[in-house]
Amino acid sequence: MSDPQLITEESVAAAVDVALAAIAAATDSTALKQARSAHMAEGSPLANLNAALRSVPNDQKAAFGKLVGQARGRVNGAYAAAEERIVAAEDAARLAAETVDVTALPSRYRAGARHPLELLRERVEDIFTGMGWEIAEGPEVESEWFNFDALNFDADHPARAMQDTFFVEPPEAHLVMRTHTSPVQVRTMLDREVPIYVLAPGRVYRTDELDATHTPVFTQFEGLAVDKGLTMADLRGTLDHFVKSVFGDEAKIRLRPSFFPFTEPSAELDFWHPTFKGGARWIEWGGCGMIHPNVLRAAGIDPEIYSGFAFGMGVERGLMLRDGVQDMREMVEGDVRFSQQFGMVV
Ligand code: PHE
Repeated sequence: MSDPQLITEESVAAAVDVALAAIAAATDSTALKQARSAHMAEGSPLANLNAALRSVPNDQKAAFGKLVGQARGRVNGAYAAAEERIVAAEDAARLAAETVDVTALPSRYRAGARHPLELLRERVEDIFTGMGWEIAEGPEVESEWFNFDALNFDADHPARAMQDTFFVEPPEAHLVMRTHTSPVQVRTMLDREVPIYVLAPGRVYRTDELDATHTPVFTQFEGLAVDKGLTMADLRGTLDHFVKSVFGDEAKIRLRPSFFPFTEPSAELDFWHPTFKGGARWIEWGGCGMIHPNVLRAAGIDPEIYSGFAFGMGVERGLMLRDGVQDMREMVEGDVRFSQQFGMVV
């Protein structure tokens, strides 16, 4: 290849043409580098022609040198121009790809929401702890004794059928899904020293079908106060304060005579609010009463010295009344859109 014969105007022009064509065809820096190693680097036709200059006779060296030098100059120039063009294009493409639209809205996470039943339960807890009461808890799988017997339900008393009960297998275990939070009254009186002021919120179970006004699992809160000298007036004052705290100062309460085996006297708690759906009226919201002496005795407290009151309300019903929720099923189905309507209270 280093034969001096090869250096002719034609061979030089041919080497230049293929080099320029390859450079012109390169559209990215990789292709351009390939064009350089094929047509400009050592071993390429142009480099071979350049090397062949060494064997050219002295009197022709200047002419051939100029021919090959000019050829290499054109190719180098074309290469430099192509490199500049490709680098600029690649930089522009990279910048375009990395563009950040500082005016774009951030992508949003859909925030979850706390369930309104939880929020209302916490609100109720706050109201009572604000009065110095404590929170108590009991198991949801409860012994029949705590759920019924200790609360003065006779074995064959019709009151036992008042609450349709889920019994837990085997029957000899005498376990039930608690039908109300009242068994926590007895547990609390056995566990703690008088005076007692506790609120016991929690889930309860009854064999109801799920429909607009019933659910087999719901939430109650139980209030229990045991002290010297407590009367119905204390019960009434406590409930009045509580209902006004949840529903506003315009709310009023009324106690209507009723029956529960574990309270005597017993009452239904009704309350009145001017903005109820369907107009201002009395609405029932739970049971209450003075703790029956038999219940105090079952818990080892002397009814001659101490008296107490208790009340139990449903949180779901409270939510229906406060927020005009029409259908219980919305509260149990777990659709976050339902919860979101109540806002992100924390
Ligand atoms: N446990 C009763 C119920 O679920 C409510 C209640 C509680 C009544 C405390 C009186 C005293 O219906």
